[in-house]
Amino acid sequence: MRDEPLVLGIETSCDETGVGIVRGHTLLADALASSVDQHARFGGVVPEVASRAHLEALVPTMQRALDEAGVTLADIDAIAVTSGPGLAGALLVGVAAAKGYALAAEKPIYGVNHLAAHVAVDTLEHGPLPEPAVAMLVSGGHSSLLLVDDITAGVTPLGATIDDAAGEAFDKVARLLGLGFPGGPIIDRAAREGDPASIVFPRGLTAAKDLAAHRFDFSFSGLKTAVARWVESRERAGEPVPVNDVSASFQEAVCDVLTAKAIDACLSTGVKTLVIGGGVAANSRLRALAGERAAKHGIVVRVPRPALCTDNGAMVAALGSHLVKAGVAPSRLDLPADSAMGLTTVSVPG
Ligand code: KG4
Ligand code: ZN
Repeated sequence: MRDEPLVLGIETSCDETGVGIVRGHTLLADALASSVDQHARFGGVVPEVASRAHLEALVPTMQRALDEAGVTLADIDAIAVTSGPGLAGALLVGVAAAKGYALAAEKPIYGVNHLAAHVAVDTLEHGPLPEPAVAMLVSGGHSSLLLVDDITAGVTPLGATIDDAAGEAFDKVARLLGLGFPGGPIIDRAAREGDPASIVFPRGLTAAKDLAAHRFDFSFSGLKTAVARWVESRERAGEPVPVNDVSASFQEAVCDVLTAKAIDACLSTGVKTLVIGGGVAANSRLRALAGERAAKHGIVVRVPRPALCTDNGAMVAALGSHLVKAGVAPSRLDLPADSAMGLTTVSVPG
């Protein structure tokens, strides 16, 4: 165990300041400071507010993580930091801090891809990832299906959303129902009291005519519009909006499409492991439906516990640890924050 690398990960791509510390696949610390409350009244993340909050939270969060793990910066073998994709100003705070710590403590630095980190984090809970695996990444900014052969070498995109991300759809529907931000956890809770079969909402890109070009792609903007129209028509008729039923029916439409396409991706590639990551992977219905449907085909579903699905520093440390173990060269000290970092770049080359 002592031979495993001790890696510290810093995450600041959106509204969570996270510092995690892992040794190999073992999680030692996962300190988090969220600015979500500061964004709630705007109904979405305000980039400038997020950057300032990261600046204030970073040093104390770093100290909490080191204390929790019972180590000092001198003990760390490598520092990993989210280089992208994400909000430019928010990313810059983490990248600048990581460079400062790396320079001061003379440690190698790895600028890593936030999306690959959402996949790698599962190894902290379920051990090494069988390869190849299909990964479904569903967050506030992304919805993708990927084929993962070797997480340190890159991933092969199979499909992605052509409009809204799954989490974005949850956030927008929650907003139009007047439920607050972020919408995912609130809709998840409201849906438990509602009937998922009460309203039939559209399943984007599942019609036979769409499958030829978009078999593994997603579309959620038509669903969001359908929910908006349905709610408007109730309001126009002066009838109350059954928020729990709308939440449950909307959530069912999202989870139905996500799980059907993920299982189809596994079947078409002959892959027996499906990993789900990103904030929407915390959704209770998505977790249950994915498990149910996968079991019918002998596919194993791996989803980390909800706290590891949403943004955190542990996921960055987990990916960093994979890179160190694979002997991947560290990034240079002048590595950039790359807000549009593509899925095929796992870490910034040295
Ligand atoms: O991965 P994440 O924390 O940040 C990004 O990288 O975007 O994902 C945040 C997204 C938000 O849209 C949020 O509403 C959604 O994940 N989310 C959920 C749940 N928890 C968070 N969506 C559905 N159900 C949940 N329980
Ligand atoms: Zn994320």
